[in-house]
Amino acid sequence: MIMYNVIDKKKKGGELTRDEIEYFVNGYVNGDIPDYQVSALLMAIYYKGMSDTELLNLTDIMAKSGDMADLSGIDGIKVDKHSTGGVGDKTTIAVAPIVAACGGKVAKMSGRGLGFTGGTIDKLESIPGFKTSIQKEEFFNIVNTTGLSVIGQSDKIAPADKKLYALRDVTATVDSIPLIAASIMSKKLAAGSDKIVLDVTTGTGAFMKNIDDAITLAQKMVAIGEGAGRNTVAYITNMDVPLGIATGNNIEIIEAIETLNGNGPDDFTEICMNFSAAMLNLVGKGNMDECISMAGKAIKDKSALGKLAEMVRMQSGDDRYIYNTSLFEKAPYSYKWISGSDMYIMQMDTEECGKTAVMLGAGREVKDSEIDFTAGIKFYKKTGDYVKTGDIIAELYSSSKEKLDKASKYIKNAYKTGSREPEKQKTIIAYITRDSVIKY
Ligand code: URA
Repeated sequence: MIMYNVIDKKKKGGELTRDEIEYFVNGYVNGDIPDYQVSALLMAIYYKGMSDTELLNLTDIMAKSGDMADLSGIDGIKVDKHSTGGVGDKTTIAVAPIVAACGGKVAKMSGRGLGFTGGTIDKLESIPGFKTSIQKEEFFNIVNTTGLSVIGQSDKIAPADKKLYALRDVTATVDSIPLIAASIMSKKLAAGSDKIVLDVTTGTGAFMKNIDDAITLAQKMVAIGEGAGRNTVAYITNMDVPLGIATGNNIEIIEAIETLNGNGPDDFTEICMNFSAAMLNLVGKGNMDECISMAGKAIKDKSALGKLAEMVRMQSGDDRYIYNTSLFEKAPYSYKWISGSDMYIMQMDTEECGKTAVMLGAGREVKDSEIDFTAGIKFYKKTGDYVKTGDIIAELYSSSKEKLDKASKYIKNAYKTGSREPEKQKTIIAYITRDSVIKY
């Protein structure tokens, strides 16, 4: 086979065969096909798209480029969740304990921050002692004992995605529906869970800027999951505003803990209740209404909080932090952005909010940057809120005075204000199954 011909076929809108897809994916992973040819093919895919058959083949080949995790050592049905990325997304940290408290099994591999979006693993590592890299036997034992464990994704899971993602990142081919679908679902299929709940974000802080594209992406991912024998559903959620109030690392852990104590922000609580219910529903714990009340009960009786503490303890973390969040280290420098007038927050650019958090030290500006666990932002006022003179709009935190000064100016680019009350924002926009799209 000749790579030139594969690129040329896709450039003309042709359908690649499984052999051709296998040839370019495996050839790229092995180093036989150079970056420049794969870049050209990715751009051709970006413009010409992929048929459903091509997409299923690409996902399957990428999933099988490394280890396919066998979770049969964990009793019961395993359920996973995955977000296409966002700002302030600490959902796993609250949802996994709720599901475990209701009898579900969550054996989850999560990622680190990517660009302006945060990563669950970085957030969890802000709990002193917490280990995100453990042996398989220990991972299984923790899930069998507590019902949940969250660890860093092994390099052996879908290595083709790792290489292709890095190339897409520098060739402006990330925001392609088939490439995102194959990237995420290859990792989910390789990670081994039986059931999957997807969170497809849309808005200024998401890859999918509009709702129709988000629905198409969700439908494609649901079809891939179902085609591979894993029941999959998806939510479309609003990333036109950061999720919850806190964006950072230890401040997001604190917000997840507050939510498990029943004191979380409304938008984040709504997401947690719905995702937990969908995960419980998939593993057969009841209908959606029953599962929502089960999730509510696990928060009310503190059993979900207890599950988080158990996981933290079993992964060598200090569980006193879960019951006493004042123990978490605080940033030495902070800045309160105070409103100088009465106005509405008309719009937020969530990507700019995420970039400000990275600038403060909460994410990585370069690959090897060290994370400042105390850095981040609290968005006290978000789109739709009325702000009075003297109100705090946002508070920024950092261990670096220099970074704080720079970010304190930058954050103002992320907000548009005005005198008219803007339309109310929904948190959950739609729910997608194999056969239906339910708009909220
Ligand atoms: N997250 C992924 O894992 N892959 C993508 O392509 C986009 C978001």
